[in-house]
Amino acid sequence: MKAIVVSEEAAGAAGMMLAERPEPQPAINDVVVEVHASGFVPTEMAWPSTWVDRLDRDRTPSIPGHELAGVVSALGYGTAGPSVGQRVVGLTDWTRDGTLAEYVAVESRNLAPLPGDVDFTVGACLPISGLTAWQGLFDHGRIGAGQSVLAHGAAGAVGTMVTQLAREAGAYVIGTGRTADRQKALDFGAQEFLDLENDALEDVGHVDLVFDVIGGDIGKRSAGLIRAGGTLVSVVGPPEARPSEGLAVDFVVEADRAQLSEIVQRVRDGRLRTNIGNVSTLDDAVAALNPTERVTGKTIIRVRP
Ligand SMILES: NC(=O)c1ccc[n+]([C@@H]2O[C@H](COP(=O)([O-])OP(=O)(O)OC[C@H]3O[C@@H](n4cnc5c(N)ncnc54)[C@H](OP(=O)(O)O)[C@@H]3O)[C@@H](O)[C@H]2O)c1
Repeated sequence: MKAIVVSEEAAGAAGMMLAERPEPQPAINDVVVEVHASGFVPTEMAWPSTWVDRLDRDRTPSIPGHELAGVVSALGYGTAGPSVGQRVVGLTDWTRDGTLAEYVAVESRNLAPLPGDVDFTVGACLPISGLTAWQGLFDHGRIGAGQSVLAHGAAGAVGTMVTQLAREAGAYVIGTGRTADRQKALDFGAQEFLDLENDALEDVGHVDLVFDVIGGDIGKRSAGLIRAGGTLVSVVGPPEARPSEGLAVDFVVEADRAQLSEIVQRVRDGRLRTNIGNVSTLDDAVAALNPTERVTGKTIIRVRP
C-alpha cells in the first residue's frame, strides 16, 4: 500500500516520504480500515510515540497521522461491533502506524460509526480536535452554564471546537489568537476576542476556565487569570505556573467512542462546524504537510477520492 513514512526525527515533517509499505494485518480486537481521509497534527513529529514504541524501541519507519475516516475492510480475531463495509471515524493508537496510508489497523474500541451523510473529509478532522475540546471542557474542566472560558488559539483546530462546545454548554467564551484570527474566532462563536499580539492578556480579568493550546509565556500568565475554584486546562504539557486558588490539569486526548459519536451527531445537526483548511491527496501530502506559508484550519489528506 502507499503510505507517508518518517524515519529521521531530526528532519521533522520535512523528512516525510511517500513510500510503499506492507498492508497491516488485524490483531485481536483490531479493525483494518480502508482510509478515505486522514488528519495530522503538525506537532506529531515532536512526540516520542512517533519514533519509539511503548518499550522505547525504535519503530521507524513509522506512518504518522492518527485521525481517520474510512470503511472497515477486515476484522481481527474476536472483534465485535463494527462490520466489514461499515463507515467509521476514529483516533488511532499513538505508538502504532497511523492513518496517512491506504489502510490502517486500529483497535475496534477506538472507532465510532460515521453516518452516511457525513463526508469522510469532515469526519477525519473531528477525532483529535473534537475529543480534545470535549475532554478538556467537560471531563477535566467541568465547565457549566454561566461560566466563563478563555479559549486560547480560538481560530485553530482545537480552539474552534472548544469555542463551539463551550458556547453550547452555556458558557461565555473569550477567544484569543493572532491579530488576523479575530473574525474567524468570532465567527465560530467567541463573544469577545483578545489579540495576543496587541492586547494585554491580563485585561481579561478572571475566568472559570482557561483552555491552553499555546503554552510558554501565555500559559504561564494564564494561571493568574483563574478565578477561585476554576481550572487551567493545558494540552501542551504541564503548566509552568498553577492557579493560586484553582486547579491545573494537563492531559493527552484519549479515544472515546461515545464522546466521538456525540461530536459526530453535533456536526450532522449543525451544532458544530468544522475548521478545515487545505485538503490534499496522499500523493501531494508531503508538500501539503510542509506548508511554506501560514495555513489556518486543519489540513486533511484525502487518501481516496
Ligand atoms: N494533549 C493533547 O491531547 C492535544 C490534542 C490536540 C492538540 N494538542 C496540541 O495543541 C496545540 C494546538 O493544536 P491545534 O491542532 O489546535 O493547532 P492549530 O490549528 O495550529 O491552532 C493553534 C492556534 O493558536 C495560534 N497560536 C499559537 N501560538 C500563538 C501565539 N503565541 N500567539 C497567538 N496565537 C497563537 C495558532 O496560530 P499560528 O498557526 O499562526 O501559530 C493557531 O491559530 C498543538 O501544540 C497540539 O500539539 C494537544
